[in-house]
Amino acid sequence: MAKGNANRLVRFSVSIPQELAEAFDGRLEEAGYPNRSEAVRDMMRDYLIANASTDDDAPMMGTVTIVYDHHRADLSKRLTEVQHSCGEAIVCTTHVHLDMHNCLEVIIVRGSSKQVRHIADQLISTKGVTHGRLVCTVAEPHHH
Ligand code: NI
Repeated sequence: MAKGNANRLVRFSVSIPQELAEAFDGRLEEAGYPNRSEAVRDMMRDYLIANASTDDDAPMMGTVTIVYDHHRADLSKRLTEVQHSCGEAIVCTTHVHLDMHNCLEVIIVRGSSKQVRHIADQLISTKGVTHGRLVCTVAEPHHH
């Protein structure tokens, strides 16, 4: 057992409907989780990362995934311009040609929480982007 409060394990019990528990256990098995504890730990960390950073200045890594039709006039050009205007905040971009029309781009962004969200908003809201999603993560464990 690790010393210090930060790594000490705590146990808690939760009451949930049987149907929910069965559906959860079934999905965990598919996903390869060894037990409920590991799955719940992952979910709690994910929840904290997704919901904690109302602090605009907190350092953040973001992955922006967008899908768009490159035949739409000037769309590729506009998306590239947005990325150039963000300077060093854009870490890298991966482009996949999905089919004759659609492109998938994954853009990794590093900056303050506010900056990452702003860049993602600009990319995702560009006219012609059919689907977009920002996933945020942090390099260090969340501190309270
Ligand atoms: Ni393409």
